[in-house]
Amino acid sequence: MTAPTTTAPARGRTHPGWWQEAVIYQVYPRSFADADGDGCGDLAGIRSRLGYLRDLGVDALWISPFYTSPQADGGYDVADYRAVDPVYGSVADADGLIADAHALGLRVVVDVVPNHCSDQHPWFHQALREGPGSPLRERFHFRPGRGADGTEPPNDWISLFGGPAWTRTTDPDGTPGEWYLHLFAPQQPDLNWDSPAVQDEFRSILRFWLDLGVDGFRVDVAHGLVKAPGLPDLGHCEQLALLAEKRVPYFDQDGVHEIYRSWRTVLEEYPGQRIAVAEAWTDTLDRTARYVRPGELHQAFNFKFLNASWDADQLRELVALSLDAMRAVDAPTTWTLSNHDVVRHATRYADGDPARGVRRARAAALLMLALPGSAYLYQGEELGLPEVTDLPDEVRQDPSFLRPDGGNGLRDGCRVPLPWSGAEAPYGFGPVPGGPAWLPQPAAWAGLSVEAQAGDPRSVLELYRSALRVRRSHPALGAGRAVEWLDLGPGVLAFRRESPEGALICTVNTAGHPLPVDGSALGSLLLSSAEPPSSIAAGNAGNAAGGAGILLPADSTAWWQAP
Ligand code: GLC
Repeated sequence: MTAPTTTAPARGRTHPGWWQEAVIYQVYPRSFADADGDGCGDLAGIRSRLGYLRDLGVDALWISPFYTSPQADGGYDVADYRAVDPVYGSVADADGLIADAHALGLRVVVDVVPNHCSDQHPWFHQALREGPGSPLRERFHFRPGRGADGTEPPNDWISLFGGPAWTRTTDPDGTPGEWYLHLFAPQQPDLNWDSPAVQDEFRSILRFWLDLGVDGFRVDVAHGLVKAPGLPDLGHCEQLALLAEKRVPYFDQDGVHEIYRSWRTVLEEYPGQRIAVAEAWTDTLDRTARYVRPGELHQAFNFKFLNASWDADQLRELVALSLDAMRAVDAPTTWTLSNHDVVRHATRYADGDPARGVRRARAAALLMLALPGSAYLYQGEELGLPEVTDLPDEVRQDPSFLRPDGGNGLRDGCRVPLPWSGAEAPYGFGPVPGGPAWLPQPAAWAGLSVEAQAGDPRSVLELYRSALRVRRSHPALGAGRAVEWLDLGPGVLAFRRESPEGALICTVNTAGHPLPVDGSALGSLLLSSAEPPSSIAAGNAGNAAGGAGILLPADSTAWWQAP
């Protein structure tokens, strides 16, 4: 086990817990870097690119699952929680990766998937083999079917990937048997968290990875582990309405918090501030905050911010609500714009115009990195990658797409392997030009590769590098619980962040055209996501703001060294 080399904070104040202000970079291992050339990323590939992440300026990486898995859901169907899938390497590779990362001052967060396992997990095999009444079935949700011959599912819950949330089993003697619950794909049976064996097993899994030196866990479907007693039925229409708000008897039940209190105890047993971050989709930010109360998890993703429109008023409201909700439980707020489950924000914000999408993505990054708390980046956003929307059906692997009655299955488009270098696919993702990649990369990505952008001051990559550099050294950025809102007029989101050693002002113009503002109190420009805001002379017709007028470019964010 190794400990990260702690780089002394450049700021002249006491350093809070590293996670309170960390910028954490999500690696989707299948699509990050492929060292062995089989078309699939691997741990050796991640290891070879750690220097890139250090130079980018992030504090930690979160690696999506690399455990033994049939890959029915991109590794979120785990067959062995203590082993690395051969596609990705070995536990020795994970050990080496953690050691290398620590030597570079990077922390490593790994995924833990406690809501469900794979149908290839030995427990599930044994439960099926032993039939009804087996104690192994207690670790899952097995139920007899409804109707005369048990041909109807035990309740009317639907899977998030489409179709019923239940699949019928076949008994060892070949006759149709009980049903089992799976909130996701049929290959992902839900675990029963009332079972002490399940609880013990996951504390032991956490310890296995903590012993290997990981700095924390991202908790998959953290809101789903506990189901309402009796697995109550719902009317179909009502269910859809509730699902939209995440108020269903299988999400955000109060019982989940007991689990996280016990996990916190495990994390506290280890030195060096080991953390956990919840993937908890809840209907309000106050419900999200319950996951990070004292004695529970450290962070929770802020999906309300991720889902916000590019609109100054809406963003201001969500930032304020987020800060208030987390301050109430004395937890840091997190910010994120993209992950492996959602359409990349350069495309979400584009409204049909890719150039506008990139403009807004650049501005959104500077907004996010100026806010108090911790930020999660998704691999490729630092290159301004758009969603790939034209993948042929035959290469798509999202289980939701593959279910005959599934949803739109849009999640492959954000998982296309990263372009690193060169003019020919796989653009340095794999070692051989012309070699394989598990999803095809668009031809235009040659121009978006790390190599193509590095050193170009106008590139998205250099903007991220600059922003992370300023964030690291500016005393007013990073940890904190509050911002002071400034009123610079409609369409502009503006706030000030204070510190004894200096203040910073962030201005965001979400309008699709330049906006004049009073620049007299802004100070000097530190960084801009677009061309530098220009001065407008007093008396100029565009200078509605009067005084020291400044024109904020369309869809842009600027950081100012406040006077
Ligand atoms: C989480 C993961 C997602 C996965 C699902 C089921 O939402 O982020 O990728 O499909 O859980 O494990």
